[in-house]
Amino acid sequence: MRSFALTIILTVFGSVLFASETEQKDYRDYQHAEEHVRLFYKENHANQTLAFVLAKKEQYLPLRTCRMSIWDAIKMLDTLVDESDPDLGLPQSYHLFQTAEALRKDGQPRWLILTGFIHDLGKILAVYGEPQWAVVGDTFPVGCAYSDKIVFSEYFALNPDCRDAFLQTKYGIYQPKCGLNHVHMSWGHDEYLYQVVKDYLPEEGAFIIRYHSFYALHKESEYEHLLNEQDKNLLPWLQHFCKYDLYSKSEEKLDLEELKPYYENLVAEFFPSVLDW
Ligand SMILES: [Fe+2]
Ligand SMILES: [Fe+2]
Repeated sequence: MRSFALTIILTVFGSVLFASETEQKDYRDYQHAEEHVRLFYKENHANQTLAFVLAKKEQYLPLRTCRMSIWDAIKMLDTLVDESDPDLGLPQSYHLFQTAEALRKDGQPRWLILTGFIHDLGKILAVYGEPQWAVVGDTFPVGCAYSDKIVFSEYFALNPDCRDAFLQTKYGIYQPKCGLNHVHMSWGHDEYLYQVVKDYLPEEGAFIIRYHSFYALHKESEYEHLLNEQDKNLLPWLQHFCKYDLYSKSEEKLDLEELKPYYENLVAEFFPSVLDW
């Protein structure tokens, strides 16, 4: 881990890190969102261009940043401090345990509980030094028209791709029903973690991780013209999962140490001891 990058994050971004997802606790009420959320999306929408996404993919893929276990990544995630969280002192992994425990209590399959347990681990991009607008927040396709159903879509006016008429056609660089696998999404923790875990999870779990922040699709039903049959079959799983991601903040306090053995077993069932990140 680069301690220099971490120091910057803790001091500069610390107070607003993960603000966009923290806001989701309030059921995604963006009309009354605080100024820092608005500013977050302004930067996000201005900078997430097709060229930016392709550059990030070249930087991180094939995976070569480090080799480590799922538990090493959890420890790394926990080095981040979210000072905007009212439950200051809770580790970042607390949300992972909460999401997974909500799934477990409802008797969901083991692979889905595991998906919940790891789904935000890609946020370690922030530990590598990525600005938060390239880590968290809602995701959307680049290389074709930006939907006006995306939160704060007015800020796409600041995005250079908006001045390229071809990139703002309905299909842009894509073909009808080409499948999401051929679509470049705005860069963030979803795509990054997908690349890390895709060979170890059932396709439903991998799909959930890759598109859990794609609210324009799973909440607003935008971009359906890009889906193939496989995507359409997987979409209900994504919608099912997202209820747990948003609303899993329970009153009940979790004892993470007590829960750990269950999750150690679950992680070992699906993942090798060390993975490429
Ligand atoms: Fe997330
Ligand atoms: Fe989450």
